[in-house]
This record gives sequence, C-alpha cells and structure tokens, in this order.
Amino acid sequence: MTEAADLLDPAERLDVEGLRALQLERLRSSLRHAYDNVPFYRESFEKAGVHPDDCRSLSDLARFPFTTKADLRENYPYGMFAVPRERIRRIHASSGTTGLPTVVGYTEGDLSMWADMVARSIRAAGGRPGDTAHVAYGYGLFTGGLGAHYGAERLGCTVIPASGGMTSRQVRLIQDLKPSIIMVTPSYMLTLLDEFERQGVDPRGTSLRVGIFGAEPWTERMRQEIEERFAIDAVDIYGLSEVIGPGVAQECVETKDGLHIWEDHFFPEVVDPVTGEVLPDGERGELVFTSLTKEAMPIVRYRTRDLTRLLPGTARVFRRMEKITGRSDDMVILRGVNLFPTQIEEIVLRTPGVAPHFQLRLTREGRLDCLTVRAEARPDADPAAREAAARSIGAAVKDGIGVSVGVEIVDPETLERSVGKIRRIVDLREPRG
Ligand code: DLL
Repeated sequence: MTEAADLLDPAERLDVEGLRALQLERLRSSLRHAYDNVPFYRESFEKAGVHPDDCRSLSDLARFPFTTKADLRENYPYGMFAVPRERIRRIHASSGTTGLPTVVGYTEGDLSMWADMVARSIRAAGGRPGDTAHVAYGYGLFTGGLGAHYGAERLGCTVIPASGGMTSRQVRLIQDLKPSIIMVTPSYMLTLLDEFERQGVDPRGTSLRVGIFGAEPWTERMRQEIEERFAIDAVDIYGLSEVIGPGVAQECVETKDGLHIWEDHFFPEVVDPVTGEVLPDGERGELVFTSLTKEAMPIVRYRTRDLTRLLPGTARVFRRMEKITGRSDDMVILRGVNLFPTQIEEIVLRTPGVAPHFQLRLTREGRLDCLTVRAEARPDADPAAREAAARSIGAAVKDGIGVSVGVEIVDPETLERSVGKIRRIVDLREPRG
C-alpha cells in the first residue's frame, strides 16, 4: 500500500474478495432498481430474456443487454430516470453537437457519492485537505466544472471556480491566489502555457504542484511536455456524464500507471467493439460501465466507445484502465489503416521545431480519403527547420502507423486554441453521394 494509506477511505482498504462481494450485492440491487423503475430497462431485459434475479455472479452481467447513446436519446429527456422528478436535485447534459443532447440527473445521494468519488480522485492525485484547487473545466451543463468543484470542496480544499475561457485572467488568478492544484483539460493547459509565456511569466515558477487532466484523450508525451514546462505532476482523470461525470477513474500520483477505476461504484467490462463479447482483463476493446449505486439514473452496460484495457490494481485494490487510446468515433480509417489522433500527438510532440498544437484535416481526392497533419511551427523555427519537421512527421507516421499522410507546418499561433475539449479532426470530406 501507499505511504498515504492512512488517508484511504474504507472501500479503498478492502481486499479483492471483499470488493467483489460488495460489487455483487450492489449490482444485484442496481439491476433490480433499473428493472423496477425504468420502463426502458424492463423492456430491454425482457426482450433479452433476463431478469435481475438471474444475476448470481459478476460474470452473469454479460447476459444483460447493452445500453447505448441512441437509447438515451430515444428516451430524451427524462425517460431513463428511476425516481420521481421531484427527487432530482441537478441536471447535466452532454453538448449534443451530433443531435439531441443526453440529459442526466442526480439525486441528493448521487451528488454526494459523486463528490466523494471526485474527492477520492483528487486525494489519489496528491491533493490534500487545505490545498487550493483552481478549477478551469467549464461550469454549466458540462459535468467537468461542477463535478470537480464539489469534489474538491468535499476533500476540504479551497476552490477557485475559474471555469474555462478568459485565459489571461486565469494566469493572473494563478499568480495571485496561488493554487497548488489545477483541474483542466490537457489541451486548455497548453493554451494557458502560451499565455504564461506571452505575459513573460515563468510557468515553472508558479505555486502549482499537481494538474488533474481529463475529459479528452492525452498521451504520455503530453504528460512529459506539461510536467516539464510547468514543473508539476500531471495525472489523468476519466469520466463521462452518462456514468456520473469526472471521477469514474483516476491515476494515482505515486504510480502514474493508468487509472484506477472506482469500481465499488462503477463496474467496468471491456468488450469486443464488433461482437460485444466480454474480453478477459488485459485485452483491448471498448469500455462498458454499469453503475452500482446510482439512484436517479442507473445505467446498465453502457457502451462508452472509449478504447482501453483493464489491468490489475497497483496503488489501489481497484482495477486500472490503461490511458485511453481514443474513442471508436475518432478513429480514422485511411486506406484500410486505423489511426487515432493520440498516435499523431505522440509523433508531433517529439518532433523538434513544432509546438504541441496540431490538427488533422480529412479531405477526399477522387475516391481516396486523405489526411493532412497540420502542426504549428515553434516561433524560432526557420524554413529549414520547418521542412525538416514536416519530413520527420511524415516519415514517423509512415513508419509507425503504416500510412502516408500530408504534413503542413503552419505559422505560430494560427491553429485554433482549446478552451475545453479540443477538436482534433476537421472533416472536410463531402458526404458520399
Ligand atoms: O468529459 C467528464 C469529465 C470532465 C472527465 C472532466 C474528466 C474531467 P463527457 O462530456 O460526457 O464527460 O465526455 C465523456 O470524454 O467518454 C471519453 O471519450 C472522454 N474522456 C473523458 N475523460 C477522459 C480521459 C466528461 N481522461 C467522454 N482520457 C468519455 C480520455 C476522456 N478521454
């Protein structure tokens, strides 16, 4: 166990058998709660020929049907709720850029459990009561801001609810209020880095000690970049609104070896994205979650579309998930080769002469899909350095991923900056006629 073992909460002190027993008991009651109170689940269980009483071991969960984003949309807005509307204390929603937003709801009990899980996450990241946490995740319907906020308060931190945007003010607040923790998307942390430099403030000289980064995929290279440029520990936090928000899984600062899933509340499975078959721990596939304690909106076998694998616990008893490679939605298939933006991130961030800002542009030429990596030159890169960077990125993609792409090195400060979740792929292809 860790040196901070005295700070662990009771569930974090369970052994594996104790954890599995707790999970089974909670799973059975959660399935029953969903079946009894949400017509959608009653119908989908009946269609699949299963009943909550059929769940006698954790592996029986595989007999239950999946829930997808489409199911949540079809039941928009309140159809997935398992409690009367009067018991709902808060609503959050996904951005809904691709159709109807997904609405999620929380009872008082859910909000408290969520705050506990975010507090546990911040503690695993190295935060302690008495720390000051600067929260630059967006506040509002997005779960990032308020989720981080109440978790930090629950832990006993002083919270600076900065939200996203107004970047120059963020830098000022960090200098004046001296937070030790920052919670923000990794891409917005890079936007802050630019702003520190623009203001002539040394980013290594701040009071920040720990950064808790999530809401989008980011790589080990990005961790290195952020840790070096800010002289902080950078750890990963994962979550999704359909399951609760941030605080479903968290990397421990002492190991930085993937994210421990708080599986006393959120039961993970990894399935084959095509067949839906449950894969053994260690194999890569799509992450699926079942809530074990949620009241307002229990969720059964939710297909996250996030790709990862499950690994045994290290710093905690809970299983870990490997850092997410990407979402199946963000996978580009280029002449038969699968490519994720994170693979390009690894390459761009190790290439001299370019800044850690890039974008992937998809076009169609004739019948062929083409991908252009657009990366930003560092201000000191001369034309020869830019050309070398372009060649080096093209060769690394060809060698490492096995496909030819175009590379364009653009002028400094020309690519769109993130204020929250960054959009890496710009799809300029005409829909196929
Ligand atoms: O992004 C919740 C969150 C807020 C997590 C703040 C962490 C920090 P959604 O907007 O519902 O919720 O988006 C969830 O974002 O399915 C993943 O695809 C992606 N995602 C979230 N965290 C990570 C992460 C919030 N650490 C979707 N690494 C998820 C990679 C992540 N992807």
